[in-house]
Amino acid sequence: MNLTIKYLGLELKNPIIVGASNLVTDISILKKLEEAGAAAIVYKSLFEEQINLENLEMIQDMTAYDDRNAEMTSLFPHDIYEAGPDEFLIHFEEAKKAITIPLIASLNAVFDDTWYEYAKKLEEVGADALELNFYNNPREFDIEGRAIINEELDVIRGVKESVKIPVSVKLSPFYTNPLYVFNEMDRRGVDSFVLFNKLFQPDINIETESMHFPYNLSSEADYRLPLRYAGLIYGNVNADVCANTGIFTGADVIKMILAGASAVQVVSTIYKHGPQQITKMLEDIEIWMANKQYENINDFKGNLSKKNVKDPYAYRRTQYVDILMKSSKIFEKYPLI
Ligand SMILES: Cc1cc2nc3c(=O)[nH]c(=O)nc-3n(C[C@H](O)[C@H](O)[C@H](O)COP(=O)(O)O)c2cc1C
Repeated sequence: MNLTIKYLGLELKNPIIVGASNLVTDISILKKLEEAGAAAIVYKSLFEEQINLENLEMIQDMTAYDDRNAEMTSLFPHDIYEAGPDEFLIHFEEAKKAITIPLIASLNAVFDDTWYEYAKKLEEVGADALELNFYNNPREFDIEGRAIINEELDVIRGVKESVKIPVSVKLSPFYTNPLYVFNEMDRRGVDSFVLFNKLFQPDINIETESMHFPYNLSSEADYRLPLRYAGLIYGNVNADVCANTGIFTGADVIKMILAGASAVQVVSTIYKHGPQQITKMLEDIEIWMANKQYENINDFKGNLSKKNVKDPYAYRRTQYVDILMKSSKIFEKYPLI
């Protein structure tokens, strides 16, 4: 069985990539992920706030980053969070030396200069590719969506000019028309879309009547959104698609590839089941491929994309209306008491 794929111009031994998370900053865990069969790893994002750690004024005036800062402080391992950008680059270099599979860098900047400067620095410390983490969590009422998209397009153009390594973008699903945005980004030469980023969602403790910031792990059904978009995009853009969010099992990976993804990124399933989950997922993919007599991933990639699917209604509004019209079926399954 041949599970190899091409993603971001890299030859990967299979389609399972470990997404950016705190797991990957620990070298012993990194090695376990590689041993378990991960084909590549995305290193924890380097955040603008971290880059500006030396600038005390900026640390005190975190309001510019309110939304991101919450994610960064609660999700970032303390020692690395406290380290500045130079330490981050040293950690990255060490991680790169510790594994033989590709290590993808992830960058989450705010200012144009930071994007370009650190894209180059990450390339210099050996990143095999760069993922731009467009973590845009709206909180302003007076910024038009188009302005944000334009900023992102400019960043893509600038980063592509700054580095030679392939560049992917990890996006939020909350554009009015994500397909339009994908198309525009594709025209700027982005090499892959990572669908989707999980925006930080604080919770409320009703006893203390305060906000709290739990880790935001996915649930099993969360894969449906990237599944649909992988299917819509396939064959319509030059960039690869890497599905992310809610991928827990080998079956989920197969679904993403059937829809048209080249690869997947997983995080929550590793937090919940450990690195050995990757081995299990790979085994399940192989068993399925053997049963179906597929020898290569490309034999079934995109077979259920909008472009290739035989059911003309599969990706249409009609399907949605049909499901809602038949919603009484739901109550047959879950009868109201
Ligand atoms: C603890 C934790 C830390 C994360 N840190 C980052 C990060 O630094 N950069 C990033 O792009 N995504 C980060 N993520 C998001 C994951 O890479 C991934 O997009 C998200 O968890 C959805 O995938 P999943 O459903 O497999 O968990 C983090 C997620 C978790 C749970």
